[in-house]
Amino acid sequence: MDVVSILLFAAVFLILVIVFNNKNDKYRNFPPGPKPLPIIGNMHIVNSRKPHKSFFELSKKFGTVFSLQIGQEKLVILTGYETVKDALMNYGEEFSGRPESPLTSITSNGHGILFSHGENWKTMRKFTLSTLRDFGMGRKTIEDKISEECENLMQTFRSYGGKPFDNLSIMNTAVANVIVSILLDQRFEYDDPTALKLMSLINENITIVETPMVKLFISYPNLTKWLPGSHQRIRENFSEMKTFITDTFTNRGRELDVNNQRSLIDAFLAKKQEGTPESNLYFHDQNLCVLVIDLFSAGMETTSTTLRWGLLLMMKYPEIQKKVQDEIESVIGSAQPKTEHKKQMPYTDAVIHEIQRFGDIVPVNLPHATIRDVTFRGYFIPKGTVVIPLLHSVLKDGSCFEKPEQFYPEHFLDAEGNLKKNEAFIPFSLGKRSCAGENLAKMELFLFFTTLLQNFTFRAPPGAELDLNPAVGFTNAPIPHEICAIPRR
Ligand code: HEM
Repeated sequence: MDVVSILLFAAVFLILVIVFNNKNDKYRNFPPGPKPLPIIGNMHIVNSRKPHKSFFELSKKFGTVFSLQIGQEKLVILTGYETVKDALMNYGEEFSGRPESPLTSITSNGHGILFSHGENWKTMRKFTLSTLRDFGMGRKTIEDKISEECENLMQTFRSYGGKPFDNLSIMNTAVANVIVSILLDQRFEYDDPTALKLMSLINENITIVETPMVKLFISYPNLTKWLPGSHQRIRENFSEMKTFITDTFTNRGRELDVNNQRSLIDAFLAKKQEGTPESNLYFHDQNLCVLVIDLFSAGMETTSTTLRWGLLLMMKYPEIQKKVQDEIESVIGSAQPKTEHKKQMPYTDAVIHEIQRFGDIVPVNLPHATIRDVTFRGYFIPKGTVVIPLLHSVLKDGSCFEKPEQFYPEHFLDAEGNLKKNEAFIPFSLGKRSCAGENLAKMELFLFFTTLLQNFTFRAPPGAELDLNPAVGFTNAPIPHEICAIPRR
């Protein structure tokens, strides 16, 4: 071996040592976790149908800040109210990112709000929050729009004459209509084929996120991107949604009257026309299209699923249903429910809180990511690490809720029957990435729920078993079932 080869060999060896040490350095003080196997990491110990259950169990062994390796990706899981609150409130900025994922790169690709980053996310979030507020003050308030939809929903339920029916697509359309009216100042009929198509695309994507092929794709994108499977279906659905949104919604630009903005899309297009550096950078069609899909995806299934849990639980616990109806009778009577009634209705309010807590509909939360290196609770978490603040572990935290596994409205009532706040009630998550539609969702839950119970008593179809176990999917939705809506008046 000549001198040059020896030097070259030494240099390569030195670089490898530095790289290897740096790699170790980076994870030297990483949160503890189970030992990963080659290639699959810890995939084999995570229940693919209910990952939140596995995460919660593992936290009992490894603590409230622990790590897992799924394929090649290292994750940090945060559990329990104290830890999740500490991360999202005291280190809000550090944990405010979203992971770069092969899945989002074939869907939103950095646009919109749900999976966007940095300045784009900040601008889209600010715009969404302020527009949702503004349209609450416009000619027709958001409350008016929801009340109008309550009326339509009620008529549809009434049309079944107390006979059993599946309320999935009806509830989806009612909730979608509230979003459509905010986005576009328009509504769909409950059997409109366009609406049904859009909703089935969104629902299908939410369900197939949990399939093994999609998980394999997330862990090994290069190996699997050419293979057939459900990850391809997500791409197809998303592009179908984009075409649909562009055709139906964004073409509104042609008829925009900047001085008479009637919807969120009008407000977006008005910003686009400003022609400022900010509007050129962020208020473009790509962002509008993905933002609209995001608002549908985030706002429709979640709210509709929560309401469906509500009706299922009322069928399961008729004595609780009766107490809610008695309170509605004494406070609202036969008038139209209004949000201002809520403060006089602690029992109903507690029941709605408990439906959200028990339903636990986004158990794993949306994934977060660290936007810079952070030392949290003594552990070093490098920039870009995927972090899961596990909502399931907070909503079912035995140190915050007396009977975490039961449906128990008293979790939110004091001895005098007043509404009792509980800090660990965080179905909308916390901090900078918390749900941007929280106020809208709370208004919808109260108005839809009280209108339905004011007008109907819900019963299981004769002989039907009521199963409170959730179906498999990214969200915890009730297993398909039928309901009977018996008119009360
Ligand atoms: C009961 C109904 C709902 C529940 C339980 C819910 C829950 C959540 C949760 C857990 C997150 C993730 C928070 C995080 O990453 O820490 C989220 C994000 C979000 N939600 Fe909701 N949500 C609901 C309804 C809505 C509605 C009606 C809308 C609007 C139409 C909406 C819009 C959003 C948006 C835009 C985000 C992303 C925020 C961001 O990344 O900055 N949500 N929601």
